[in-house]
Amino acid sequence: MMAPSYRIPNLLSGTAGPSYNSKLMGTAKTDVARRVRQALTRMANRQALGSEVSDQTTSDDLARAARGYLGDAQILIASNREPYQHVQTPSGIEVVRSPGGLASALDSVARATGATWIAQGAADADRLVCDEEGRVRVPPGNERYTLKRLWLEPETRALEYRRFCNGCLWPLCHIVYVRPHFVAPRWRAYQEVNEQFAEAILSSLGARPGLVLLQDYHLGLCASALRARRPDLSIVMFWHIPWPNREVFRTFPWRRELLEGLLACDLVGFHIQYHATNFLDTVAQELESHIDHERFAIRRRGRKTFVRTYPISPDAAEISLAASEPWAARGAEQVREQLRLGDAQVVLGVDRLDYTKGIPERIAAYEHLLENHPELRGRVAFIQIAVPSRVDLPEYQSLAVTVEELTARLNRRFGSADRPAIHLITRNLGFRDLIPYYVLADVAVVSALHDGMNLVAKEYVAAKVQLDGALVLSPFTGAARELDQAIQASPYDTEALAAAIGRALTLDPAERARRMRAMREVVAGQNIYDWARKILRDARRLHLVSGAPRPGASR
Ligand code: F6P
Repeated sequence: MMAPSYRIPNLLSGTAGPSYNSKLMGTAKTDVARRVRQALTRMANRQALGSEVSDQTTSDDLARAARGYLGDAQILIASNREPYQHVQTPSGIEVVRSPGGLASALDSVARATGATWIAQGAADADRLVCDEEGRVRVPPGNERYTLKRLWLEPETRALEYRRFCNGCLWPLCHIVYVRPHFVAPRWRAYQEVNEQFAEAILSSLGARPGLVLLQDYHLGLCASALRARRPDLSIVMFWHIPWPNREVFRTFPWRRELLEGLLACDLVGFHIQYHATNFLDTVAQELESHIDHERFAIRRRGRKTFVRTYPISPDAAEISLAASEPWAARGAEQVREQLRLGDAQVVLGVDRLDYTKGIPERIAAYEHLLENHPELRGRVAFIQIAVPSRVDLPEYQSLAVTVEELTARLNRRFGSADRPAIHLITRNLGFRDLIPYYVLADVAVVSALHDGMNLVAKEYVAAKVQLDGALVLSPFTGAARELDQAIQASPYDTEALAAAIGRALTLDPAERARRMRAMREVVAGQNIYDWARKILRDARRLHLVSGAPRPGASR
């Protein structure tokens, strides 16, 4: 969910004059002093956090493991969403990190392994910073890997990404009572885009051996296209969203083609066992195949596909360290002042503005709480950060209107002009902007109706270094399997969710700290580098990577 944003100079501007240079030297000195101060503070924080941070798998550990496991094989990550977008602004080209858990999580992996990342170029200045093959080194200022952008026709992209991925596969897999639209030309656009991704991966790889890490439901057919041309490739797919049960999946007209696409992978990963089991059940129902329940693998037409779970987590150490820095506490105080929160307790929600996230349900529960507990009115403030998402789909537009309306109603009923009951912030916040909100919040509410994992829940826990926060968590998130010390409540049950928020607000500090400590251990033991290392380790252990082209498709 976190998206650091920073400015880079306008790459198209002319050469710098002398005054610019001397200014730059002055700036450089202060910059060095500032960096030294920052490094010292970080060291002190690292020491204060002790083994909580120092025992975690690091980016260097992952880099070493990747070299050991993969030998010469090149890593290629492919996803619909690019990790960085170059956008035009009045003061030049600005780089922003894309919203969404996938982009920030995989960015850490790409940095550590030096992988090549292939994704759609979609922002208005993306082309301006790339070479003729669509390549640009990222992140700006600290270049660690190559991002290769794929240029799609706007019409194809509209059908494939907006209409098919987000209007069909997304509601189908989340089962949240939003009807998926099954429209043949959109499916054909999806097929076409998957072919184009395969083409870009193959041209990037050349004749070298490679491990392709396909990310998410946008690329469900890519492995078949790759396999047809390079049977030797090692292909892993990580499906970041839920996999529905077989009854729901049966409604999907192109179910067999999608399953064939996934079975062209050597390994398919999910966040939790429930989704992996649903996947196996679906294959058993739809395709003639042999399901090996012992090894959790599927054999079909002489090929074997392993199915495994890898619960994803953010870079917890980075978040904990940031949250312990003085700027984070200062930022929290500034938010308190700007929003005129006084000494109110703070409840926080952070989500993409998506109907799967249960934002209206959360606001309704909070309203119910204030209705039944007048003593809380004016003493609690709710901050909802809702990042606009997929804004051209009607379902998302009407959700935005609903959330605005619910917010206005709640404020009419229980807020005053200088003390709104709820603050709705509808923009994307960067890493440094978001951390202070986590630090500030006494309670975070994650009320997703269905979610593969939900990284916000884990980010909040990672940021609570003082143990002074409570998490209310939907049992329909992957995160709920691991964070069993959260206060769990169904978003479909308004009274239960209201009671859970009330309980979180009044939790005894010792109990709150005990629960938070337990959750922090979970998050620290499963960070993003562990996630990637386990996938690479299995790729080797299951003999998926030979370091050299393999002779044939079947094993
Ligand atoms: O986790 C599912 C997912 O589609 C990710 O791929 C992405 O990080 C997030 O949701 C945001 O979606 P989009 O890329 O469509 O804005």
